[in-house]
Amino acid sequence: MDRYEELIDMALDARKLAYAPYSKFKVGAALLGKNGVVYMGCNVENASYPATNCAERTAFFSAVSEGQREFEAIAIVGGKDTISELEYCAPCGVCRQVMREFCDPKSFEIILAKNRTEYKVYTLEELLPMGFGPENLG
Ligand code: THU
Repeated sequence: MDRYEELIDMALDARKLAYAPYSKFKVGAALLGKNGVVYMGCNVENASYPATNCAERTAFFSAVSEGQREFEAIAIVGGKDTISELEYCAPCGVCRQVMREFCDPKSFEIILAKNRTEYKVYTLEELLPMGFGPENLG
């Protein structure tokens, strides 16, 4: 099976667990570690809105908290829980910055998917040009 399709399927599964009672916008992410393990994440909202965590960061924090810090790709799916066909859901700026901490801007792949066959692939550098990263702190 195509590696992108497999990751997209896992992101779609992760989206089912999204806790989004306020926005009703459910997001799922599947993050592929260089160890071959896929870490899943969904958005987790909060009555105090800024305490919300995005799906992408949930996946990254889950991976890092399990000891994995090197990554190859992430698949992201998201949209209102009322719609039947998803549009592309791009990661927010904060999540792009979290990716920048752990991923190589030139090779880390960000897969934005509507479904398992309709998807677009970007490098982190394309979505976060001239980013500020760990090497800037020398
Ligand atoms: N959200 C994500 O989880 N990831 C994104 O890439 C965009 C936004 C969540 C945060 C919030 O729970 C809801 O979507 C609406 O912003």
